[in-house]
Amino acid sequence: MIPLPDPPLSDDLIGLRPWRPPDAGALVAAWADPEIARWTTLPPRTDRAYAQRWIAGGSQRRERSLAIDLVIVPLADPSDVWGEVGLWDLGRVPNSSRPARQAEVGWWVDADQRGRGVATRALLLFSAWALDALGLHRLVAHTKAGNPASTRVAEHAGFQLIEADDGGQLFQLTR
Ligand SMILES: CC(C)(COP(=O)(O)OP(=O)(O)OC[C@H]1O[C@@H](n2cnc3c(N)ncnc32)[C@H](O)[C@@H]1OP(=O)(O)O)[C@@H](O)C(=O)NCCC(=O)NCCS
Repeated sequence: MIPLPDPPLSDDLIGLRPWRPPDAGALVAAWADPEIARWTTLPPRTDRAYAQRWIAGGSQRRERSLAIDLVIVPLADPSDVWGEVGLWDLGRVPNSSRPARQAEVGWWVDADQRGRGVATRALLLFSAWALDALGLHRLVAHTKAGNPASTRVAEHAGFQLIEADDGGQLFQLTR
């Protein structure tokens, strides 16, 4: 079981909360954004019915310890959707004799909200919580070549570059 952050995570500008049924339209709009389509992995379908189904499945994904996805919202209006930060379980850390677990993190921000630190804030809040509250040993993040904004977000949130090739970069944050 992956619990929700309790108390919910926030700083002086943003908060993180679970997806809710009224967010389906915002999720469809995000999936239609060319940058989000280019740099993240979209689901097999990106229509409203699928968005509703995906949102409804969030609790089950957490209960089965598969993933947690949180909406980035403005503190001033938590019904608004500014982006998403989430993680999915990757199981044990390779070559580790201890029962150390790891997860991969991902994020996106709505086009209207980019360029003012929203992704960095969200990743800082979320990754500190994930390492501490979920007892994870490390978080990894892949950024693809040609996506410098995302690389900057990982760096700003304290992730360390551990591998780079023509395809992109692999970052990690450890406890
Ligand atoms: C990547 C993304 C999440 C960044 O969100 P954001 O809220 O604008 O990010 P931040 O404002 O916290 O930081 C962005 C950083 O990238 C920099 N940046 C933005 N565009 C850039 C570019 N073309 N080249 C170099 N740096 C760039 C910004 O200047 C900023 O760095 P700075 O604070 O040192 O100036 C957003 O652009 C997005 O959703 N893109 C599409 C989806 C995506 O790429 N997801 C990540 C997949 S790994």
